[in-house]
Amino acid sequence: MRPIKTTKDIKIPEDPLERIVGQETIIEKVKTAIKQRRHLLLVGPPGIGKSMIAQAIAYHLPKPEYEISLINNPETPQHPLVVVKNKEQVLKEKKQREINEVINPEEAPVVVAEKLGFRCARCGKIGAPEEPCNHCGSEKNNKTRTTPFEDMMTEVLEIGKEGVEDQVRIKIRSEKKEGIMVYQRFGNKIRVTDEKELEKQAKKKKQENVIVSLNRKVFVHATGASETELLGDVRHDPYGSHPEIGTPAYLRVVPGAIHEAHEGVLFIDELPHLGNLQNFILTAMQEKKFHIVGRNPQSAGAAVKVEDVPCDFLFVGACNIKDVQDILSPLRSRILGNGYEILMNTHMPDTQENRFLLTRFVAQEIIKDGKIPHTTMSAVEDLIEEARRRAKVIDDARNALTLRLRDLGGVLRMAGDFAASEKSKLIESKHIKEAIEESKPIELQLEERYGSVWKGIEKDQVVNPEYGKLGKSYI
Ligand SMILES: Nc1ncnc2c1ncn2[C@@H]1O[C@H](COP(=O)(O)OP(=O)(O)OP(=O)(O)O)[C@@H](O)[C@H]1O
Ligand SMILES: [Mg+2]
Repeated sequence: MRPIKTTKDIKIPEDPLERIVGQETIIEKVKTAIKQRRHLLLVGPPGIGKSMIAQAIAYHLPKPEYEISLINNPETPQHPLVVVKNKEQVLKEKKQREINEVINPEEAPVVVAEKLGFRCARCGKIGAPEEPCNHCGSEKNNKTRTTPFEDMMTEVLEIGKEGVEDQVRIKIRSEKKEGIMVYQRFGNKIRVTDEKELEKQAKKKKQENVIVSLNRKVFVHATGASETELLGDVRHDPYGSHPEIGTPAYLRVVPGAIHEAHEGVLFIDELPHLGNLQNFILTAMQEKKFHIVGRNPQSAGAAVKVEDVPCDFLFVGACNIKDVQDILSPLRSRILGNGYEILMNTHMPDTQENRFLLTRFVAQEIIKDGKIPHTTMSAVEDLIEEARRRAKVIDDARNALTLRLRDLGGVLRMAGDFAASEKSKLIESKHIKEAIEESKPIELQLEERYGSVWKGIEKDQVVNPEYGKLGKSYI
């Protein structure tokens, strides 16, 4: 192992769960929750890794297996039908849609090969579509020099403007085929599609509205979501779903965060702030499906309802300690019944191992920030001393290191800015010391300047003695 001279020499774990410092026993529980698909409530003061845990859980979940779409319900169009397809089905349909034929550039009509950038118009050699020609070196983005008539079977309909294109439409008349063909670049090959087929597919595609696609993110952050954002909605149609000029109901349905989180993580920070919406979450958690309705009574969407849209998510809620009492008790009961309530650690013992973890934390933060230099080991020591001081002052913990790491990261970033503005290659002790001094909270600054916080607060209401008599404020 290389000796560690600066934080640059520290290896950072790939797994975001392992990057979380000082919450080891909690991480074990989190791992169980991932395996068994349990819900979590993370409780603790700001900036100690609650959001980090929620994101790391999503990293560990498998990719979604199902896609959810809506189709028209011919009998009652205002009640679209839900179709759930598994990955195999989705991929099969995609393939069917996509590929008619894939050919080598040599097999394509000359004008097509030139226009897609495979054939050099000057030397006639076929090569990679990148420019310039790797045989004669000439640029490919000038006018195609082959006339369509060199290729008697084809009549060019549209080759776009000058220059190499990704797609060419031409009319083909050959023994084998007749019609309009679309040629598209497909890696080092060319995909050939019949235009009629393309139209057919486009039409078919229009007949379904994919509301939760297979390629979705498995982490859905719904902090502060409104009712529509959380539960979905149906867009207004000024033509009231008129069969010719209106938009059919199934195309106007928008999923909510609870649906988008299907098979993934639904994360809600500051959970009590959701108020009564917590009730919907607990129903969704229990039923694993939740209807989507138009939520604005004035909108044409209000008449539309889709029943039983799947929403099987792993719920992660977070809040500060004092807010726990405002979480609806039936929701807490659902979490406890099928998951864990976890109180986060605010500090960890001051041991050699934990000092190393804080050093790694410094390296992580520097890499995440991307704008500040690495840190000398003596500067890290200073930051660790500050972590020790904070554990004692804030949490009354002796021989401990604070885990209120967002704030500690703030000191590091400020020190980094000092170092960067001096064009220093590394963050040094003096930068950390300066940042500790500068990053004092307002309360401490008030105390230092005015003797006490209260005396400082009085300064807000300074009244000019002259005006004071008249009762007018000075500011
Ligand atoms: N335990 C930790 N290990 C490593 N880094 C941490 C840890 N806690 C916080 N951090 C750093 O602080 C940042 C903020 O943490 P995070 O957003 O997870 O806090 P939080 O607990 O969700 O706070 P809030 O209650 O304000 O939402 C993280 O992105 C990370 O850079
Ligand atoms: Mg958070």
